[in-house]
Amino acid sequence: MKEQLELIKQNALAALDAAENTATLDEQRVKWLGKKGELTAVLKMMGKLSAEERPIMGQLANSVRAEIEAKLEERKSALSAAALEAKLAAEAIDVTIPGDAVSMGHQHPMNQVLQQVKDIFVGLGYTVVDGPEVELASYNFTRLNIEEGHPSRDRSDTFYFTDDDAVLLRTQTSSMQIRFMEEHKPPLCMLAPGRVFRKDEADATHSPMFHQIEGLVVDEHITMGDLKGALITIMRAIYGEDAQMRFRPHHFPFTEPSCEMDMQCHKCHGTGEVDGAVCPTCHGEGWIELLGAGMVHPEVLRNCGIDPEKYSGFAFGMGLERMAMGRLKINDLRLIFDNDVRFLNQF
Ligand code: PHE
Repeated sequence: MKEQLELIKQNALAALDAAENTATLDEQRVKWLGKKGELTAVLKMMGKLSAEERPIMGQLANSVRAEIEAKLEERKSALSAAALEAKLAAEAIDVTIPGDAVSMGHQHPMNQVLQQVKDIFVGLGYTVVDGPEVELASYNFTRLNIEEGHPSRDRSDTFYFTDDDAVLLRTQTSSMQIRFMEEHKPPLCMLAPGRVFRKDEADATHSPMFHQIEGLVVDEHITMGDLKGALITIMRAIYGEDAQMRFRPHHFPFTEPSCEMDMQCHKCHGTGEVDGAVCPTCHGEGWIELLGAGMVHPEVLRNCGIDPEKYSGFAFGMGLERMAMGRLKINDLRLIFDNDVRFLNQF
């Protein structure tokens, strides 16, 4: 029996040492110490021993049990320490690894220019207003003295929503002239920036959506001189004191007289040529058309309940993309809308 107990001890301790996880450890505990375990089986035979041998064997059995139990405890804590160790290693966060940098964005170049233009006009006393992009034909055309059948009302140029051509995407911010004069009586001084839409094919200078900034001033004794003064002031503020611009006579149904203002091309500096070829930015013109303007037509004032005998005014509508292109020396309009960060980050 003594040999049996020794054998159990040796085998049990070896098996426990070899146990790699708590599940096998538990199996081993049942195998050696359980009710049907090896040690129990030996103890059951104690009754067959002599009275002298019994206490000796009993003592031996108890010490074998104690040793196995001690080994069990030792392995259990070693295994759980290892498990904890592994878990910690797996979940470790290395706070010294550099983080993902969050890059700061900035204002879109076109918005930068819009902000500058707004600041200048606010300084001149203009009120900045906003208006609907989905507009009634009466505001976009009719009350601006653009009769039905006028070529600019053509379905090939305008995005209409309804079959009767009464609702459309505004083709010009001039609709805001009517909206503003409906609500305000002279003296008035308005600036209305916003999106406009035309069925233009996109090329280096055209897009079906672009931005205009509409200006309107109505008071007593307003003249064409006031119009030129306002426009020259703004252009010098944006492009610098030596900015080259020119006024050309033009026609708009809602202004009389009317003109257009051009800026000298920033690409070819007015020569119309770049490296011996036609300048791609101004198509060889040497000038870039920036805005339309004129004295508010008496009919338009009348359409808004303002007496043209007493009041006069001027209006202008400038293309914001064209302004931004000149100011930031951008050669292709489409770059402004592509939103490629490699382009945007330059400004
Ligand atoms: N609305 C005109 C255009 O889009 C520009 C303009 C505005 C002309 C105001 C005169 C007065 O071309």
